[in-house]
Amino acid sequence: MAESITITDNRTGESLEIPLENGGVAASQWTKLLPGIWFDDPGFVSTAACESAITYLDGDAGILRYRGYPIEQLAEQSTYLEVAYLLLNGELPTPAAYEAWEREITLHTFIHENVRKRFLEGFHYDAHPMGMLVSAVAALSTFYLDAKDIFDIESRKKQIIRLIAKMPTLAAAAHRFSMGMPFVYPDNSLKFAPNFLSMMWKVAEPRFEADPVLARALDTLFILHADHEQNCSTTAMRVVGSSHADPYSATAAATAALYGPRHGGANEAVIRMLTEIGSLDNVEPFIASVKEGSGGRLQGFGHRVYKSYDPRAKIIKRTADEVFAVTGKNPLLDIALKLEEIALSDDYFVSRKLYPNVDFYSGLIYQAMGFPLEMFPVLFAIPRTAGWLAHWQEMLDQDSKIARPRQLYIGAGSRDYVPLGGR
Ligand code: CMC
Repeated sequence: MAESITITDNRTGESLEIPLENGGVAASQWTKLLPGIWFDDPGFVSTAACESAITYLDGDAGILRYRGYPIEQLAEQSTYLEVAYLLLNGELPTPAAYEAWEREITLHTFIHENVRKRFLEGFHYDAHPMGMLVSAVAALSTFYLDAKDIFDIESRKKQIIRLIAKMPTLAAAAHRFSMGMPFVYPDNSLKFAPNFLSMMWKVAEPRFEADPVLARALDTLFILHADHEQNCSTTAMRVVGSSHADPYSATAAATAALYGPRHGGANEAVIRMLTEIGSLDNVEPFIASVKEGSGGRLQGFGHRVYKSYDPRAKIIKRTADEVFAVTGKNPLLDIALKLEEIALSDDYFVSRKLYPNVDFYSGLIYQAMGFPLEMFPVLFAIPRTAGWLAHWQEMLDQDSKIARPRQLYIGAGSRDYVPLGGR
């Protein structure tokens, strides 16, 4: 027998049986029995905003899968570009499809000269690269007028390729500008991650050769960050996209959502926290201050969905060892390990199911690779673009309604206007 729930309106005694589908109940059914009674759900903690076939996440069991494939297998064996294809198309590419996809992305890595010269170089010298990225992505919509044809499948595909390809170029350009360094054009003989590293670090050498271990580690981090179902930035993407705005404007909104410390800025906060703790002796007093509320939160711990160890954090911890073998150990690592050890055996964190999340170790890797703190959210935005676009495309294919939640009004009742002189 199909599972269902029954709701009863105690004011009238009327009942309605609602089928349970894919783990949820349709609010439209609820509305049939109870028109005008809304769910009070700030932060959408208990609301499924859509149906999605892209990413599966079981927060209690610590499971993450893209299109059914376990994140552990993808991180170990795949590449970011292949994962981007998978997220967008639902299936892994054949060798021929992968070759064509990689070639298309590579051909679109360049940005219009005006984006760099007139636009990016117009920022103040100390502009935050994430602020520059948000604006530059939005500005792209003015360069590609065909982006408005969101129901033209060919045009849609082209904007998706452009966005995935240009994100690293814009990201590196923002960094170079903030360092007062000249822009480095993409080197299209390089793969995705090495090309980004070349645009970041090239100085006077004719060709920048990224260390293969570091390039692979970055690609792995890109895989781990490529999607995470209905997080804050993906929700922003879907909400803005639901108005049928072009994908550059929607991606700019998603990037803006990622800018905040509660989302994409958390790994930066982790490094600041570890730096402030400063030594192993200070770890226990710091944990005590978190527990009593004076020390703020333990950054990189806790997650809205994961109530066990974030599977991405496990993979990142391994990647960190590989990176540190090349770069030398990040001196903050020992503090992080001790923090984790103490927190995982402390009842405050255990009872609240607070475990390390993806951001706890990723910042240590980025820092060891030479990225400044301001670039951390930018490094998150590059791969998450694939996830955002997969959700945007899925939403359009579902012919979804415009996002427009209700509110529970708690303000003043009706009252008469009093002219200024009478107040
Ligand atoms: N340190 C100390 N206490 C915490 C922490 C933390 N990091 N996270 C949650 N708590 C406590 C919180 O004080 C509350 O305790 P109580 O019930 O006594 O009031 C309880 O745990 C539940 O917290 P919540 O704020 O209701 O949980 P949430 O699901 O709304 O918040 C979170 C999730 C990620 C915003 C939060 O855990 C947090 O602020 N973590 C630190 C920042 C961070 O690492 N963010 C990265 C998230 S993963 C990357 C991403 O998805 O972008």
